[in-house]
Amino acid sequence: MILVVGGAGYIGSQVVKQLNEAGFVTITYDNLKKGQREAVIASKFILGDIRDTSRLSKLFKENQVEAVMHFAADSLVGESMENPLAYFENNVAGTINLLKTMINFGVKRFIFSSTAAVYGEPQQIPIMETDPTVPTNPYGESKLMIERILARCDEAYGLKYISLRYFNAAGADESGQIGEAHHPETHLIPLILQVALGQREAIKVFGTDYPTPDGTCIRDYIHVVDLAEAHILALKALIAGKTSTVYNLGNGNGHSVKEVIEAAGRITGRKIPVIEARRRRGDPAVLVTGSTKAIQELGWKPRLADLETIIATAWQWHRNPSW
Ligand code: UFG
Repeated sequence: MILVVGGAGYIGSQVVKQLNEAGFVTITYDNLKKGQREAVIASKFILGDIRDTSRLSKLFKENQVEAVMHFAADSLVGESMENPLAYFENNVAGTINLLKTMINFGVKRFIFSSTAAVYGEPQQIPIMETDPTVPTNPYGESKLMIERILARCDEAYGLKYISLRYFNAAGADESGQIGEAHHPETHLIPLILQVALGQREAIKVFGTDYPTPDGTCIRDYIHVVDLAEAHILALKALIAGKTSTVYNLGNGNGHSVKEVIEAAGRITGRKIPVIEARRRRGDPAVLVTGSTKAIQELGWKPRLADLETIIATAWQWHRNPSW
C-alpha cells in the first residue's frame, strides 16, 4: 500500500492515477485546502492534515503502508515571502510530523516533492543537483530544510528517500480527466489559457528587462504526466534498494514568458492581449535544469517534452475542466 499525502493536488493526483495504472494500491491523504476530491481517481481517500498526529497514527495503524509519497505543501514563492511562518509550519513542521509517524510505524521509504526553488539564483545553466542550494524565499528554504532533515533521518533511522526537485510543472492528463486549477490561479500557462477563454482580459508579463534574449524570464516547463512517471520510477528504485538521493526534473529546454504566450496563441487560435508589468519579487531570470541524472539512474524518458504538447494538453483540459 502506497500512501500519497497531498494526493488530491495537481501533481499528486496525477501520480495517484499512474500508481494505480502501474498496479500499486494507494491511499490518498489530503486536507482538501488546495486539492480537489474529484481529482482522486480509484484510491481510498482519507480527509486529514499532516499536522494531525492522531489521525495519521490511526491511518498507519489500520493500513500496511509500504512507502510514502509526500506532495502536501504550500508552494507559492510570493505568498511565502509574505507569510513565512505559515510555510515553515505546514511544509516543515507538518512534514516532521509525518516523518515521526512513519518512523514510529517502521515505514522507511519516502518520495519527497522538492523544487528548483532550493537553488535560489542559479550560478550556472543548466542547474545540476550538485550546485549550491541558496534559496531566496521561504518556500524554497522550507523544502531545503526537509531535504537536510531527510539526510539526518537516513543516518539515524535508515530512512531511504528520493527527493525530486521539480522545475515548472505544466500540462494536463491526456485523458482530459485531471488538470491544473489553483484557486486563486498564479501560474503562467493556466492564466494565459484563461485569457484565451475570455475569462481574463490580458496576461501580465512580469518583467521585460531581464538579461535574456527577449527580456522575459526563462523557465523549464515539464509535463505533469512525465513528472508523475519519474515518481513511479523513483518508488520502484527505492523498493529495489536504491540509496537516498536527489534528482532535478525538467526537460532541459528553456522558454521565455513571451515564447509561452506566442505558443499559446498559435495553439488556441485566440488573441492573447499582453500587459507589460514590473518584475515579480523573488523571480530568478533563468531556471533550466539538466535531467541527465534522472535519465541515467532512473531510466526516465520524458515523452511529452515539447512546449506545444504541454500547452495543447492544458488547453484541452481548460476548455472543459472537470471542476
Ligand atoms: N509570470 C508572468 N505573468 C503571470 C504569471 C507568471 O509573467 O501572470 C511569469 C513569472 O514571472 C515566471 C514565469 O511566468 O517568470 C512562470 O511563473 P509561474 O508562477 O508559473 O511559476 P514559477 O516559476 O514562479 O514557480 C513554479 C512553481 C514553484 C517552483 C518553481 C520552480 O510554482 O513552486 O516553479 O521553477 F518553485
